[in-house]
Amino acid sequence: MYKKKCSRNPSLKHLNTFAIDITAKKIVFVTTIQQLIEISKKCKLYNIPYIILGEASNILFLQNYTGVVIFNRIKGIKIIEQHDSWLLHVSSGEKWHNLVKLTLNLGIFGLENLAFIPGYIGSAAIQNIGAYGLEFKDICQYVEILSLKNCTKMKIYKKFCQFSYRNSIFKYKYENEYAIIKVGIKILKNWKPIILSSMKHYIQKKNINAYQIFNIICKIRKNKLPDPKKTGNAGSFFKNPIITQKKLKKLISLYKSIPYFPQKNSLVKISAGWLIDNYKFNNIHIGDASIYQKQKLILINKKNATPQDIIQLAKIIHSCILNKFHISLEPEIDFIGAFGKIKSLDVLNHKVY
Ligand code: FAD
Ligand code: EPU
Repeated sequence: MYKKKCSRNPSLKHLNTFAIDITAKKIVFVTTIQQLIEISKKCKLYNIPYIILGEASNILFLQNYTGVVIFNRIKGIKIIEQHDSWLLHVSSGEKWHNLVKLTLNLGIFGLENLAFIPGYIGSAAIQNIGAYGLEFKDICQYVEILSLKNCTKMKIYKKFCQFSYRNSIFKYKYENEYAIIKVGIKILKNWKPIILSSMKHYIQKKNINAYQIFNIICKIRKNKLPDPKKTGNAGSFFKNPIITQKKLKKLISLYKSIPYFPQKNSLVKISAGWLIDNYKFNNIHIGDASIYQKQKLILINKKNATPQDIIQLAKIIHSCILNKFHISLEPEIDFIGAFGKIKSLDVLNHKVY
């Protein structure tokens, strides 16, 4: 019935970018909405948990999963040209980076700053992915969700998605028993390059085009980030903290070089990578878990790290940064326990797990 085989208690080692060797009761790849509905109904009937995933590039499994892992591969892209914009209707099981490449090949410019981000469309919306001056929210028109309770679909327009830094309404109100099935993306035709100071070093010409930006971003990312095919990781492990001006002033008085980025409401974002870098953990490792030396916000699985290794390392980092800088780092990735998602701060604060 499903596109790929369903086997019992299979390992997920090659199906999560952290390369954690845990098992699930079952792994299923769905290619249609009907398949998604059927498998979720079956799970509910037998009281088995289930979780919907894309590439599993933003999660950490903490234990063997007792339920069904559903990998969403529902495909479809429809592009409509309007006089001032392009409207893209994209199914949630399309790969994000493939969409970026496809649009550029069609001469549709605007997604290039989000090039080379792993994962699928569904999670791009949930997570409000962002990089190099652009976030998913900037090009989102709507997100379509499916209730797995009553099988109804609902289109949530951007202004109701409550997007913010790595956050959206799909992380709380529409989290359990909802699937993202489609997103609408609107790209205006009056393209302007988005160039951050971190990109300037790579730019030679004044009149830069979208293809060149795409190539620069891919080059920066390939240089700086570990390739999950070779080294297990889930990108930034923690979020960049957003703090008040008062707290920033205090930090600057102690650490003059701390980088910061002004946000709305006179708040500032500071760099969690800088905090970890400046703590000088000196090649710390717990089992096969360690900090990626070129980008210290990324925790890596060198080969056979267990979830306990990663969590122990994350707990050490969390408590050292709290003690030294009085900042509580919040994980960026989702933690998945034996029965489903677990609040990541509860894990780091030793409340569970
Ligand atoms: P998954 O990890 O599979 O799922 C994430 C969460 O979304 C889970 O809770 C899952 O249950 C839920 N979910 C997924 N699909 C659905 C659906 N259809 N319906 C309901 N729930 C669903 N992120 C950035 O924002 N910017 C970056 O620059 C960036 N760089 C990265 C670099 C590397 C090397 C890596 C490994 C990761 C990086 N990430 C980055 C993080 C990650 O790629 C993104 O968060 C991505 O959107 C995750 O997609 P995914 O399909 O792998 O989601
Ligand atoms: N820095 C250090 N040491 C480090 C890492 C960073 O000092 O080890 C400082 C440097 O000053 C650097 C600054 O932090 O200039 C920012 O670093 P970087 O440009 O690498 O970005 P980041 O803030 O660490 C965020 C996102 C990334 C995204 C990049 C590029 C978060 C949690 N992470 O990282 O997204 O690709 O910006 O825009 O917001 C992800 O979400 O998984 C992810 C990789």
